[in-house]
This record gives sequence, C-alpha cells and structure tokens, in this order.
Amino acid sequence: MAKRNADWLTYNGSRYWSGYKTAVPKYSMAVLFSSFLMGEIAAATIFHSMANGCEEPVFKEGFAKIGRDEGRHMAICMSLMERDYPGLQGEDRSTITKQIRAGYFFLSGVLFEPPPEFWDLTPDFIENQRKIEEVARKAGFHIPDYETKKQNWKNAMLNLKGILDKYDIPFPAIPEMGISGEEVLDVDMEDIIPVF
Ligand SMILES: [Fe+2]
Repeated sequence: MAKRNADWLTYNGSRYWSGYKTAVPKYSMAVLFSSFLMGEIAAATIFHSMANGCEEPVFKEGFAKIGRDEGRHMAICMSLMERDYPGLQGEDRSTITKQIRAGYFFLSGVLFEPPPEFWDLTPDFIENQRKIEEVARKAGFHIPDYETKKQNWKNAMLNLKGILDKYDIPFPAIPEMGISGEEVLDVDMEDIIPVF
C-alpha cells in the first residue's frame, strides 16, 4: 500500500517537473523567489516540528539538519526579495498572487492532504495515506495528525502573507484554510513554479 502511494506521488512529481521546465524561463527572479519562499517556509515548519517530536535518534538528527537547511533557503529567498521587491512592477505582483494560490494546491499534497485541483490520484489514496501515517506515527516518527498538519500549514501561509504584506503584494484567498484575500479563479496548474 505504501509503495503504491509512493508511486502515485512520484508520478505527480514528474508532471510537476514538466510544468516547472516550461514555467521557469517565463518569469523574473522576483516572481520565482516568492514561490520558492512559500516552499521553504513550509519545509522549515514541518521539519522543525518533526525533529522536535521524533523518537528515533538518527531521524531526529536528520530532520533537525534538514530543518536548519530549509531555514537557510528561506534566508536566501528573503534577501533576494529585500533587494528586488521594492521596485516590483504591477504585473509581477498579480503573477505572484496567482502563483501563491497554485503553490497552495501543489504543496498541500506534501504538507497537508492532496487537493484534486492538481493531484491526480486514486480515490483511496488519502484513506491509505492516513493508515500509513498512523503506522509511522506509532513507530515514533512524529507524523502530525490531520488538525496539527492543517494548523502548521496555515501558520506557514500566514508567515508568507506577513512577508508579502510588507511589499503590498495581495495574498490570495485560501478558503480551505480560512484565509481571506484576493480571489484567484484562473490558476493554471501547467504554469506552476517550483516551490522547493
Ligand atoms: Fe528548501
């Protein structure tokens, strides 16, 4: 069951990689880095939380190191944003808002539960995933439960919102998480930018 779910994730990851290759040449560094930052904040949040609760010493150390690394990636994104965002053009601002909405759909599959807007999965994927995670949780890997994951993911997005607010970039509405903002209706998942 775990192998099958992992294969489905790999398949979707390859779809994402194809989208990435077409999207990257289209956008400025400023736009690209807002998407990167979303992924880095989310990754830092999840790895720090897993490192705190993990009972397996080797994995605990591994998660802590990955969390630290993700924090460094965040810092790289933030310093580029500090340099480039004050002069950002109007069109780039609305692209960033759209990309954050698209990033929500993609990253939810990794950090929360995969929404159908991007993820092409079997109907039993989420149910199986919950069973697999339960086994891993009992083994001491500190897999957050549904509500904790949701709260972590929401906190990561509110962090990102705080940063984008400083540069007057409208944040998209994320109704799934109870975050209000600008409505984005035309998310093109083919144009999604890499978020890791
Ligand atoms: Fe990263």
